Amino acid sequence: MTGPLVVAIDGPSGVGKSTVGRELARRLGIPYLDTGAMYRAIGLLAERNGIALPIADPDQVVALTSAADVRVTGTESDARTFLDGEDVSVEIRRPSISLYASAVSAIPGVRRQLASFQRRLALSGGGVLEGRDIGTKVVPETPAKFFLDASLDVRARRRHLELEAKGKPEPFDKVRGEMEQRDRADSTRSDSPLRCDESYVRLDTSDLNPGEVVERCLAALGSLPGKPESQVGESG
Ligand code: DC
Repeated sequence: MTGPLVVAIDGPSGVGKSTVGRELARRLGIPYLDTGAMYRAIGLLAERNGIALPIADPDQVVALTSAADVRVTGTESDARTFLDGEDVSVEIRRPSISLYASAVSAIPGVRRQLASFQRRLALSGGGVLEGRDIGTKVVPETPAKFFLDASLDVRARRRHLELEAKGKPEPFDKVRGEMEQRDRADSTRSDSPLRCDESYVRLDTSDLNPGEVVERCLAALGSLPGKPESQVGESG
């Protein structure tokens, strides 16, 4: 059974997954889904409920997740995130929420709920999905998987400049330290850790600009067996 095109983009924080994912979705004319935004929304919910880090009672966060209504708009030009109807797109980008998102994403009961929601969205309408476990857990059967990577220093420098450009500068060492901490947590957690295997096309983006990464992804998609329309379905 063939289904809609689903492109998985995984990789560590600050590697350019969102920039590349949005442009790729635009070029392919398919939805764009930032799955990290959903973990961020649950992280924000945990913070608003006064839950401290490290999280002492994961079941409390699982219960909050079950009761929450998290939505992301699935287009590259309007990728917004709503938590119980409130537009939280800006608030979830706060650095403290990055740490909360990483902490809630290590909780299996949270992952189960968000990953199955993401899978349903992917199978119903296709799309470019970016995150940490898209190619390993959410839609492992898609042949279109990219793992973007770059050194910690390169990624931290990019994030540092991005924060400066947004008028919210943070010291470089702080940005680098938090990124390192988050990468370690995301790659060593027991449920769905970030990892690249041979089913991915791995791209080191250290010396590439986003446009070049997009072109490489499009070229790789063009050479997939059966080409991009062949893709995923309930029966794989
Ligand atoms: O991509 P991001 O930085 O917005 O993601 C926030 C956190 O959510 C990140 O630390 C890891 C987690 N995450 C995840 O575990 N699985 C995903 N598919 C996406 C994000």
